[in-house]
Amino acid sequence: MTTSATRAACVIGWPAKQSRSPKMHGWWLKKYGIDGDYRIEEVPPDAFPEFIRNLRGHGYIGGNITIPHKEAAFALTEPDERARAVGASNTLWYDNGVLRSTNTDVEGFIGALDAGAPGWDQSGRHAVVIGAGGAGRAVVWGLLERGIPRIHVVNRTFDRAVAMAERYGDRVIPERWEDRNKVLQGAGLAANATSLGMKGNPDLDIDLSGMAPGAAVADIVYVPLETSLLAQARRLGLKTSDGLDMLLYQAGRGFDLWFGVRPQVTPELRELLAQDIPKS
Ligand code: ATR
Repeated sequence: MTTSATRAACVIGWPAKQSRSPKMHGWWLKKYGIDGDYRIEEVPPDAFPEFIRNLRGHGYIGGNITIPHKEAAFALTEPDERARAVGASNTLWYDNGVLRSTNTDVEGFIGALDAGAPGWDQSGRHAVVIGAGGAGRAVVWGLLERGIPRIHVVNRTFDRAVAMAERYGDRVIPERWEDRNKVLQGAGLAANATSLGMKGNPDLDIDLSGMAPGAAVADIVYVPLETSLLAQARRLGLKTSDGLDMLLYQAGRGFDLWFGVRPQVTPELRELLAQDIPKS
């Protein structure tokens, strides 16, 4: 039941019907006994600025932003340091009447790795990130924040990898698509930040066999749960971190900002979300 006292947040996207966020936040609201609600709002790009400028008038204390609105959300709000570093916002909240934003994909990616592949950041070896779009920027920024010394960015369109290096400085090295297997030699981490491997898309064609022993492999894709990339990593005995954990670990900050409780990521919650996602 919702009343006039119910605090509501939402996920705004176009489309957004497939979003798993309501399930996640709904579980936490129930678990922590909070009078809150979390809904899906499908808003087309031409209506997005008005929706954001009047988010409160639409009944919301904040929300998440998904495809294709993350860069527009950044431009229409007061972004924090992380959102500015990435140039995209996925979490909005009011701070003394000001609509602020951050990018929690950064902590989602790092939080999933810390949980699934502890010690991943201790190898002293270089990292390889595949993809130079918005997701790639969040991943690379997370690695820079964590102090990874050298991050090679491989992208189909080389110019976008170059733009990433120009944005972040000389710890980031742009690489050509055809060099991806060579660049992986001796790497301590590989991360897929493209939609390759997602159900309905081609797989990421890459050979992980030259990575350092004990290296970690992360994927932002979570449909299926085990992408062909993660299956290859598992066969090679490498550590893995999947897209569902990234989704779970990016969500807590928003919940805390809106409802005042830092929620826990538990095996039960993961299982609830995993139920309707194909395993492979
Ligand atoms: P997002 O903000 O979700 O990262 P994006 O900005 O469209 O979305 O970026 C998608 C990423 O996936 C890019 O790195 C893109 O490569 P290009 O920059 O060359 O477009 C990558 N990508 C998408 N489809 C691909 C494919 N078939 N092969 C290789 N890379 C692909």
